[in-house]
Amino acid sequence: MFDDLLFEKLACPKCGSADLGLEILEGSKLDVRKGEVSCRSCSSRYPIEDGIAVLLPDFLESDLKARTRGWKTWSAKMRNFMEWRKKTWDGSAKADEYQERVDSLNRSFFEFCRLPEEPSSILDVGCGGGTFGRYAATQYFYAGVDPLPVPGETEKFRIVQGVAERLPFKQSVFDYVVIMAALDHVTGT
Ligand SMILES: C[S@@+](CC[C@H](N)C(=O)[O-])C[C@H]1O[C@@H](n2cnc3c(N)ncnc32)[C@H](O)[C@@H]1O
Ligand SMILES: [Zn+2]
Repeated sequence: MFDDLLFEKLACPKCGSADLGLEILEGSKLDVRKGEVSCRSCSSRYPIEDGIAVLLPDFLESDLKARTRGWKTWSAKMRNFMEWRKKTWDGSAKADEYQERVDSLNRSFFEFCRLPEEPSSILDVGCGGGTFGRYAATQYFYAGVDPLPVPGETEKFRIVQGVAERLPFKQSVFDYVVIMAALDHVTGT
């Protein structure tokens, strides 16, 4: 999901500028379904599709550039996969068992993080379907970033499509950053 509170935290993943414009084509500022984020500094444009802003940089060092092109292709494949999964897997006993395991892992990680009681904002890098958000979003301002957000799973949370190497956020706008089972995917780590 994409709203004005999330927009306020964004910066251009290409040049880092926070001078951005938002055009809403479908939905409202509380729930932008389709639109465009544009950078007034470098003129880059980033589409918002189905409530997810595609803030992938396209100018990077060759390895990441090739992977970035790949992420766009994979997003379409992921969409088809999720539709197939809905028909064949959701609601089965195996799916419930798997979901319980994933939930328990995320609950443990959430407890391990020992976030404070007071309202805080949290960025989840490599958030996948936003499973950490199930715990964090009830108490905190939760946002996630992932090059391959999982369609259907991400509707409830503020999630953008982007990479850790060029985070599409302004400096120091989150109180905490978490990264679970994703650091090994990041170039240079
Ligand atoms: C094993 S999954 C973990 C997902 C989630 N954190 C969880 O624990 O359920 C790894 C995630 O890292 C993401 N990822 C891969 N390369 C990345 C990058 N360069 N920057 C940020 N995330 C990345 C993948 O798309 C995937 O969703
Ligand atoms: Zn820019």
